[in-house]
Amino acid sequence: MNTFHDDQPSHIEVYAIKNSDQIRDETFRALFQTLSPERQDYVSKFKRASDYQRSVLGDAMVHRILQDKLGLDPMHIEIIRNAYGKPSLKHHDNLHFNVSHSGHWIVCAVSHEPVGIDVEKMEAIDMDIAKRFFHKTEFNALLHCDPSVRLSRFFDLWTLKESYIKAVGKGLHLPLDSFALELLGGEWAPVLGENGETYYFKQYTVEEGYKLSVCGISRHFPKNVQFVTAEEL
Ligand code: COA
Ligand code: MG
Repeated sequence: MNTFHDDQPSHIEVYAIKNSDQIRDETFRALFQTLSPERQDYVSKFKRASDYQRSVLGDAMVHRILQDKLGLDPMHIEIIRNAYGKPSLKHHDNLHFNVSHSGHWIVCAVSHEPVGIDVEKMEAIDMDIAKRFFHKTEFNALLHCDPSVRLSRFFDLWTLKESYIKAVGKGLHLPLDSFALELLGGEWAPVLGENGETYYFKQYTVEEGYKLSVCGISRHFPKNVQFVTAEEL
């Protein structure tokens, strides 16, 4: 994995890993061993193998990135969570990361500024959800867009909004209709946060049928996602 360059202190990096049945059980067993005792307990409670696997891969990916960025011994990586559940690295206030998983993708964004990421597998939508939860202007834009792009636009909004509430760190404690996303000249316009910070957005493609959005205070987004394999972790 690449390391941050000192001359670009606030840029963002985005990583993705695909869960698949090509990954051997012994690889999962080895990655499990790298988790903290608390996370080992947490992931062991999952009933479905896919839930267990994506959490092991997500945690192992974060560990690997933090080790690479900070040269930390895995034993000294201590993850804490804010009041809303957002994880961060204890004693390292200037390194931020965020993880998301959906379907067989696990993604992670890392930056020296707060960052949020969301990946979602696109499925049939219920427009009532958009009506209930999205901002009125977002719902109206969806209602009036060409039906052939409505599903795609819904998941654009969904993942962008979730990347924002995850960057802020409040999750769903931040009402989803308290801010509105809009396309300006083909780009998603930045949002001014309650704290006076400006949040920028960028989307990436990992696979057809998925949406991936990243939100950060840094506007230095990478051109591409870095794909990694379980064996590289
Ligand atoms: N802020 C930022 N990141 C958070 C967080 C918070 N407050 N709380 C948890 N996370 C991180 C954790 O690393 C978590 O991984 P873990 O469960 O292995 O610990 C990860 O986000 C989960 O992200 P994701 O895979 O995208 O899960 P999600 O989509 O189910 O939930 C939440 C994301 C927890 C932040 C929250 O927004 C939620 O419950 N969302 C439900 C989905 C929804 O209604 N979204 C609305 C979109 S319009
Ligand atoms: Mg999500």
